[in-house]
Amino acid sequence: MIKIPYLTALTTHFSYGLLFAFGQFRDFFRKIFDWWRTNNLQGYAPICLDFEDFYTRRLYLRIQDCFGRPISSAPDAWFDVVERYSNDNNKTLKRTEKRTRCLNLGSYNYLGFAASDEYCTPRAIDSLKRFSASTCSSRVDGGTTTVHTELEECVANYVGKPAAIAFGMGYVTNSAILPVLIGKGGLIISDSLNHNSIVNGARGSGATIRVFQHNTPSHLEKVLREQIAEGQPRTHRPWKKIIVVVEGIYSMEGEICRLPEIVSVCKKYKAYVYLDEAHSIGAVGKTGRGVCELLGVDTADVDIMMGTFTKSFGSCGGYIAGSKELIQYLKYTCPAHLYATSISPAAAQQIISAIKVILGEDGSSRGAQKLARIRENSNFFRSELQKMGFEVLGDNDSPIMPIMLYNPAKIPAFSRECLKQNVAVVTVTFPATPLLLARARICISASHTREDLIKALEVISQVGDLVGIKYFPAEPKKQQQEKEMIKLE
Ligand SMILES: Cc1ncc(COP(=O)(O)O)c(C=O)c1O
Repeated sequence: MIKIPYLTALTTHFSYGLLFAFGQFRDFFRKIFDWWRTNNLQGYAPICLDFEDFYTRRLYLRIQDCFGRPISSAPDAWFDVVERYSNDNNKTLKRTEKRTRCLNLGSYNYLGFAASDEYCTPRAIDSLKRFSASTCSSRVDGGTTTVHTELEECVANYVGKPAAIAFGMGYVTNSAILPVLIGKGGLIISDSLNHNSIVNGARGSGATIRVFQHNTPSHLEKVLREQIAEGQPRTHRPWKKIIVVVEGIYSMEGEICRLPEIVSVCKKYKAYVYLDEAHSIGAVGKTGRGVCELLGVDTADVDIMMGTFTKSFGSCGGYIAGSKELIQYLKYTCPAHLYATSISPAAAQQIISAIKVILGEDGSSRGAQKLARIRENSNFFRSELQKMGFEVLGDNDSPIMPIMLYNPAKIPAFSRECLKQNVAVVTVTFPATPLLLARARICISASHTREDLIKALEVISQVGDLVGIKYFPAEPKKQQQEKEMIKLE
């Protein structure tokens, strides 16, 4: 649970109130001045949604330079950010030819495979030459190459399930699989902070959706008991099936799922467990096998294991791993398998190669080193941020660490000031987070060196002071000692 400091809550509400009032004021005049334009659309309903459109026009556009910054290199520890400018108060941004070399604290390149890798890159290039960039076909037509079948075997073996199916996109994996697994008469119980792909998949399924308090097994149990007692709406018949959906590491909070407790509740009430490991597979666990390995949960107790290849493996796509019958059923029925073009063979080869490195099957210990490094880097960075007085969300071992900003004025201030000092950070706000809970989301990579992290900490600390986001300041003497310690290390 995020508790906003009282004064911060007050100033944040006030700032949004001001932006809202000012936006309404501007809209009022726009209607008068643009009367002839709106008149052209007489008789039509507005094409844009009311609040989202207002939010985009009057709040987002003011700070849109902080989002979607174009990059002109691989998302390694350092990357090239393309400079942009605007001649119309940020409404439109134009790219320049200038590039700034920045420390990358925003990509999900957890193990560093997204940059050129001595083992993966040559193999991905070979695959590109042999198979081309696209299969130009769905899996059931001509889109299943030898690389695709190898990928599915490799993933199943890696995550510890009998079989797996791969898709071209992680988002689609959730949003297309849930409607195949469950429908009317079924019940999905979803963590309140699950990713949008899960929310949309659940909505598209037609099943009844109930939400439990984020990462709270006792509340999950309460919801399960109530729902089982209630049964289906109106008829009160028993649910056809119940699926509980959770994430391994929550992408906006950096929190690790309380999987052992959740699994035991699900077992008690005979509900299936669907685990989205987008941010945990490859990133945590002794051999990178995700939260099951980290928390000592038997993979046999997780019925549907979902994950993406876009983070730790430096590729694209997603997978579902489960029993042979489940995967076969998905292959016969899932529209994203039947009708969508299959994952690019070069991307598939990148994943296979990355898994081989992680498991040491490339004949080196680079995988183990990467795993040790991401853990050390994440824990070091998190503890230093906390010592500095930032409000940092998430758990130890998680490479995601959101720093709370809250106030809308602090979003661009933090992002722009960091960029000025060649540190690129990702800031996240509504609709990805609740309106009042804007944050900067730091993603740590195994490819960051200790010097990179120290530079980042120095910049973030300075900017944090400037912007006023050290909500829990340490005593000045202690802070000074800590700075000296960082330097000494
Ligand atoms: C928990 C979770 N699931 C699914 C996805 C979608 O994955 P992709 O970006 O690979 O499409 C994301 C994206 O970050 C995510 O955080």
